Amino acid sequence: MEKILNKLENFEFNVKKLDETNIFEVLEICKNNKKYYEEYLHEKATLEEVSTIFTELPPNTNLSQKYVLGFYDNKKLIAFMDLIVGYPTHKSGMIGLFIVEPSLQGQGIGKKIVAKILQVLKSINLSICEIGVIDNNIEVINFWKKMGFVDYDTKTQDNLTLIKMQKKL
Ligand SMILES: CC(C)(COP(=O)(O)OP(=O)(O)OC[C@H]1O[C@@H](n2cnc3c(N)ncnc32)[C@H](O)[C@@H]1OP(=O)(O)O)[C@@H](O)C(=O)NCCC(=O)NCCS
Repeated sequence: MEKILNKLENFEFNVKKLDETNIFEVLEICKNNKKYYEEYLHEKATLEEVSTIFTELPPNTNLSQKYVLGFYDNKKLIAFMDLIVGYPTHKSGMIGLFIVEPSLQGQGIGKKIVAKILQVLKSINLSICEIGVIDNNIEVINFWKKMGFVDYDTKTQDNLTLIKMQKKL
């Protein structure tokens, strides 16, 4: 699956597979996204909470399917995405979390990154991309709708109601 990283080589942002050694860069973006953490997740962006981004896996998957991708502009981490390949079916990819540095939101960066990731997932023969969005995060639901995702179900997870959205690739 390293081909995912190869396919991201010529993207306008430098893309790296992140691990726990990048925790402080990720933590900074999460802390700056206070609204998302406190209003929607009802959590604080602590080191402990943020470190789970590197370890959390959906059922019946393993770490070889997980990519915490970091997007850099001039060595500065500007966004990250938690991506699981081959879940919930072997033909799908799932975006667990996607956050753009708040001072750079609303400038088209999120749209460019998601469009590129969808293109890469399609090129490795996946046919569906899934995302779960917290039900009262209307602005973000609209972001995913703009990216072509449609809502098809809801589920409850950790006391949150998630709207399940998907896009055919
Ligand atoms: C959601 C998020 C990833 C979007 O990234 P972004 O770089 O700000 O989005 P873009 O500037 O590329 O916007 C793309 C489109 O979505 C719309 N959009 C993005 N964020 C929006 C918001 N908060 N409210 C309303 N519309 C929004 C934009 O207007 C734009 O529409 P357009 O193409 O018609 O102009 C980013 O705002 C973010 O990190 N939010 C906080 C964390 C979060 O909630 N993540 C989702 C959890 S999975």
